[in-house]
Amino acid sequence: MTLSTDVHPLAPIPCRIRRVARETHDTFSLELDAAPAPAFRPGQFAMLYSFGVGEVPISYSGDPARPGAVVHTTREVGPVTRALGRLKRGAAVGCRGPYGRPWPIDDARGRDVVLVAGGIGLAPLRPAVHAIAARRSEFGRAVLLYGARGPADVLFARDLERWRSAAGIDVSVTVDAGTPTWKGNVGVVTGLIPRAAFDPQRTVALLCGPEVMMRFAAEALRARGVPAARIWLSLERNMKCAVAWCGHCQLGATFVCKDGPVFPYDVAERLLAVREL
Ligand SMILES: Cc1cc2nc3c(=O)[nH]c(=O)nc-3n(C[C@H](O)[C@H](O)[C@H](O)COP(=O)(O)OP(=O)(O)OC[C@H]3O[C@@H](n4cnc5c(N)ncnc54)[C@H](O)[C@@H]3O)c2cc1C
Ligand code: FES
Repeated sequence: MTLSTDVHPLAPIPCRIRRVARETHDTFSLELDAAPAPAFRPGQFAMLYSFGVGEVPISYSGDPARPGAVVHTTREVGPVTRALGRLKRGAAVGCRGPYGRPWPIDDARGRDVVLVAGGIGLAPLRPAVHAIAARRSEFGRAVLLYGARGPADVLFARDLERWRSAAGIDVSVTVDAGTPTWKGNVGVVTGLIPRAAFDPQRTVALLCGPEVMMRFAAEALRARGVPAARIWLSLERNMKCAVAWCGHCQLGATFVCKDGPVFPYDVAERLLAVREL
């Protein structure tokens, strides 16, 4: 009998945590030492394994032009994400990836690009904003509409300011509920769409956030005349293998992990109608 020394393709690779950043009371970013660092594209995700607890899909949230710095931003919602949130600098986390279909940034060249994010949905879109900012002259108008629950939940506040002031991105932030010191917009993010400055006929839109928000945002964009095939959504579904093998995320012939998670709205609309795959 010969023993294979090959590593199983689904085996998580242990990575050290180089830095932990607490973004908000329930959200944190892990910067990982991954060697070799994965060359990911904006919108792709990794499977992160908290040893002894479980494995979850989490998008890359760092700058794709700096693949040496692998960053993931996670909201604590259940056992695995809370266990990841308890890890300290120097601890190990299991990683495998990148997986999935990225945002179609190249298709947006020469067009206006509108990004609509809700809550933690800004994390999977952040690499796309970095990429657009780095190649800003290749795009028409660039608009980022971001909604958070309250001022204390606004993610990446320094990035938002930098993108607005130095990267030529038209950033609007709104919160569901303001505070006495909040001077910005109050209301749902979809409310910003009717007055945002872009040309619907030449727009590509990228949406990420709670499904109800994406559905309303997609409809608001369609009402302005953006074709469904140019509105792209990142879907979240239960995943186990991430390689179209286990069937957890399957709907008919579609595997959200491999065919997505990014889909055009004319395809996603059908998938959104199914609560959990
Ligand atoms: C492709 C992809 C990329 C993702 N990227 C990120 C990211 O960058 N940052 C981040 O914080 N989260 C992201 N998620 C969601 C993350 O995977 C879940 O929050 C995580 O799996 C929850 O695991 P848990 O054990 O902590 O909680 P669980 O006990 O599994 O879930 C806690 C609660 O969250 C709900 N939930 C769990 N998983 C999902 C899901 N996939 N979609 C919707 N609701 C869910 C459950 O219904 C339950 O109410 C992504 C999901 C996918 C599919
Ligand atoms: S997660 Fe296993 S098939 Fe998609």
